[in-house]
Amino acid sequence: MMIRSQSYSFSGIVVTLNFFFLFSFFLHTLASPTLHRCRHDQRDALLEIKHEFPGTDMYVWSDNDMKSWNKSSDCCSWEAVTCDAKSGQVISLDLSGVTLNKTLKPNSGLFKLQFLQNLSLSSCHLHGEIPSSFGNLSHLTMLDLSFNRLVDQVPSSFGNMTKLRYLLLDENKLSGKFSVSFANLTKLIHLDISNNYFEPEGLHDMSRFHNLELLIVSGNLFSGLFPTSLFTIPSLGWVDLGGNNFTGSIDFRNMSVSSRLQILSLADNKFDGPIPESISKFLNLEELHLRNNSVSGPFPTFLFTMPSLQLVNLARNQFKGPIDFGNTSSSSNLSVLNLADNNFDGQIPESISKFLKLRKLDLSNTKLEGKVPGCLLRIRSLKLSHNSFSGFGKSSEVLDQAKMGEFRLDSNSFRGPFPHWICEFRSLQILDLSNNSFNGSIPQCLRNITYVLQVLNLGNNNFSGILPDVFVNATNLNALDVSRNRLEGKLPKTLINCMYMEFLNVEGNKFKDKFPSWFGSMPFLNVLILRSNQFYGPLYQDHVYIEFQYLKVIDVSHNDLSGAFPTFYFSNWFEMTTLNPRYDTYMEYRFMYGYQYGPYSISMEIMHKGVDTEFEKIRKDFTSIDFSRNKFYGKIPESIGLLKGLRFLNLSSNAFTSNIPQSLANLTNLEVLDLSQNQLSGQIPRDLGELSFMSTMNFAHNNLEGPIPRGTQFQSQNCSSFMDNPKLYGLDDICRKTHVPNPRPQEVEEVSEPEEEQVINWIAAAIAYGPGVFCGLVIGHYLHFT
Ligand SMILES: *[C@@H]1O[C@H](CO)[C@@H](O)[C@H](O)[C@H]1NC(C)=O
Ligand SMILES: *[C@@H]1O[C@H](CO)[C@@H](O)[C@H](O)[C@H]1NC(C)=O
Ligand SMILES: *[C@@H]1O[C@H](CO)[C@@H](O)[C@H](O)[C@H]1NC(C)=O
Ligand SMILES: *[C@@H]1O[C@H](CO)[C@@H](O)[C@H](O)[C@H]1NC(C)=O
Ligand SMILES: *[C@@H]1O[C@H](CO)[C@@H](O)[C@H](O)[C@H]1NC(C)=O
Ligand SMILES: *[C@@H]1O[C@H](CO)[C@@H](O)[C@H](O)[C@H]1NC(C)=O
Ligand SMILES: *[C@@H]1O[C@H](CO)[C@@H](O)[C@H](O)[C@H]1NC(C)=O
Ligand SMILES: *[C@@H]1O[C@H](CO)[C@@H](O)[C@H](O)[C@H]1NC(C)=O
Ligand SMILES: *[C@@H]1O[C@H](CO)[C@@H](O)[C@H](O)[C@H]1NC(C)=O
Ligand SMILES: *[C@@H]1O[C@H](CO)[C@@H](O)[C@H](O)[C@H]1NC(C)=O
Ligand SMILES: *[C@@H]1O[C@H](CO)[C@@H](O)[C@H](O)[C@H]1NC(C)=O
Ligand SMILES: *[C@@H]1O[C@H](CO)[C@@H](O)[C@H](O)[C@H]1NC(C)=O
Repeated sequence: MMIRSQSYSFSGIVVTLNFFFLFSFFLHTLASPTLHRCRHDQRDALLEIKHEFPGTDMYVWSDNDMKSWNKSSDCCSWEAVTCDAKSGQVISLDLSGVTLNKTLKPNSGLFKLQFLQNLSLSSCHLHGEIPSSFGNLSHLTMLDLSFNRLVDQVPSSFGNMTKLRYLLLDENKLSGKFSVSFANLTKLIHLDISNNYFEPEGLHDMSRFHNLELLIVSGNLFSGLFPTSLFTIPSLGWVDLGGNNFTGSIDFRNMSVSSRLQILSLADNKFDGPIPESISKFLNLEELHLRNNSVSGPFPTFLFTMPSLQLVNLARNQFKGPIDFGNTSSSSNLSVLNLADNNFDGQIPESISKFLKLRKLDLSNTKLEGKVPGCLLRIRSLKLSHNSFSGFGKSSEVLDQAKMGEFRLDSNSFRGPFPHWICEFRSLQILDLSNNSFNGSIPQCLRNITYVLQVLNLGNNNFSGILPDVFVNATNLNALDVSRNRLEGKLPKTLINCMYMEFLNVEGNKFKDKFPSWFGSMPFLNVLILRSNQFYGPLYQDHVYIEFQYLKVIDVSHNDLSGAFPTFYFSNWFEMTTLNPRYDTYMEYRFMYGYQYGPYSISMEIMHKGVDTEFEKIRKDFTSIDFSRNKFYGKIPESIGLLKGLRFLNLSSNAFTSNIPQSLANLTNLEVLDLSQNQLSGQIPRDLGELSFMSTMNFAHNNLEGPIPRGTQFQSQNCSSFMDNPKLYGLDDICRKTHVPNPRPQEVEEVSEPEEEQVINWIAAAIAYGPGVFCGLVIGHYLHFT
């Protein structure tokens, strides 16, 4: 590759620095046919470097490599190396992405390349300290050590690199004081030290960095008051102080009158007080990120008269009162507005229609009410979740031009039939109408938009009738939630086309259907919830190939399912056979290939009585099988023992017979096991007592016999977990011990219900959405449990 580029992506704005390393060299070689222009000392230093890092031919992410570094060719022609055309001195070395995977030694050949001007060792898996020998490289103008695992302090010899203009140390584990580490680097134009551990101190006396254009210190441990002196630097274009511990009020009193500030992020700090009106003197300000602070005051109307502003994020602060955009002009460039998680009141003002370029609007959880102005239906991403909106105003827009890609109306007070005009949104990827009072049928016209849809959530409404056959072209659908409605009939056969379905929840309806064998053709199915319907017939049918490779959660409880399982039944459930599930990896993969509106999170409300589960632990690798309250019979398949990642297993209230499979003892992650209310016989396998994560077991109401095994896991169970097994003995100790009432509050709540019915109880599972992408920045995905 001839042109290297280093990109910073921040909230949709991408700044790209191009380094024309090899390109310039290429021109030189054409011009001069001499072969050995390379200085021998420089060549030897390079070969030393190659020697220090053996095995670097095995990298994946880079176009650079050291394969071409050998004595039979001019070192100036080597990959990643650029020489000065006249002197033959090596002036640039770009090893970014090469897996060096070592500590840089103080006597590395690198420090003999003392004419280096540009050095990039980004993403090289470097660890250990930064050696002070960098002081030898006093000609450096650009140093990129980002995305490594470098630790400890920046050596004071950095003060020797007085020509340094670009310094990138982001994404390491560096610490130390800003005022010590960088004080003498006053020529700096770009300084990015984000996501390190730079120490709790303020940023004082910044005015001497008079060339600074970019300062990114986000994700460190800075504290102290607002760094007023920073804004005296006129060249400054981009400042990110986000994710630190800054406090106090925002203060632009001493700002440069010729400021070029374009992007300002103060997000995720503890700033308070109002936004000073003087901010409107930044005539070039395009982005203002104040998310997640304690900024208060009435609505900052003055912001919305700044024609340069394109993005305003005030989410998660303490603004109060009505939203008021003043007499904003229609020449406003505002395209992204996030006001979520504040305490506004009243309605969305009609003047919002003046923002003709508005593409994304997030008003989630802002205590707003009334009608949603119809003009908002033309924007790309509209999030109105968790408010009291009740309807839409008239729209003068022509809806079939709608560009809407993301439309979230969940948890409001909408009622009445499904809004049919949604079927005109041909670009819609995410539709969430859940937790409202919509009623009537789910319309056929959805078929017109299911081709693009990735998430469809209609859960917890009053929709009735059948789920129409609208999925013929729904090949992109990842998540479908129609839970807790009054739907009936069969599941539509066209669901078979949903190749990429990951999450399917139809819980709490009146579906009456056989277990659909076409689930087997959804290779990525991760969560399947059919709970509380009238599904019937067997889960397993001969000759039907079902292999739930990615399945992590299945809940078919409270149905009329029946039948026996072959012993190999679980053998292809690969996701659960691993202790380190691939789910996260898979999600990352998906992000890389473009999720325009960002990840949604899957939220499952589970209640498992008496189980003191650490949330942190279950979040990432939660796995569960719930077959309870059906009519399954026969042996519990031995292959259950293959699911080593399984944490919750509920087979209660069925008609399983024969012995408890010994292989259950192989499930080393198991936390909850409920086999109660079956017809199991034989002894309880003693090895179950060795499952160290096990917190709740229930064997009540079976025909088990013999002794209750010793071992703490058994002895700490409630007496009722073994009840009604006439031939089981050894209960006395356990019953005596657990007679003491347990003080845990979640147990106190439900004393009135019979104990054995509550070991695992899914309340609900639903799709919810994480903060997702706000203007191109992936905030993260998570499995969220409440
Ligand atoms: C060094 O990096 C700077 C800034 O990225 C760039 O402008 C310059 O062309 C580079 N010089 C060489 C020799 O690669
Ligand atoms: C040296 O590198 C060149 C290409 O850069 C390659 O063709 C040659 O085989 C290499 N020689 C040795 C001895 O590795
Ligand atoms: C780095 O080296 C260690 C051994 O020193 C090895 O275990 C590890 O796999 C290497 N990592 C990479 C990414 O090459
Ligand atoms: C620093 O550069 C000098 C040449 O100027 C060289 O002799 C010395 O070895 C270098 N120091 C290190 C630590 O590489
Ligand atoms: C700083 O650079 C000079 C040459 O420019 C060199 O003599 C000196 O040793 C360097 N200091 C450190 C601490 O590396
Ligand atoms: C900064 O420069 C001053 C004067 O040149 C020098 O005394 C001081 O030691 C330097 N500080 C650092 C941290 O390099
Ligand atoms: C933030 O600063 C406060 C004092 O202002 C301190 O109590 C708290 O521990 C700091 N938090 C972090 C994460 O550094
Ligand atoms: C603003 O600048 C004046 C004069 O340069 C200085 O006296 C004052 O302390 C500065 N105020 C703040 C808050 O930095
Ligand atoms: C808000 O900012 C704090 C740091 O001040 C951080 O710890 C927390 O995770 C942030 N919350 C969200 C929801 O981003
Ligand atoms: C949209 O759906 C309706 C109802 O199913 C249908 O009559 C209409 O033709 C569809 N429009 C397009 C453009 O496919
Ligand atoms: C499905 O998509 C194909 C091709 O995009 C189209 O021809 C067909 O009409 C679509 N079917 C439905 C029911 O929308
Ligand atoms: C259970 O583990 C044992 C020992 O690791 C192994 O021999 C046995 O095949 C496993 N059984 C099942 C069903 O996985």
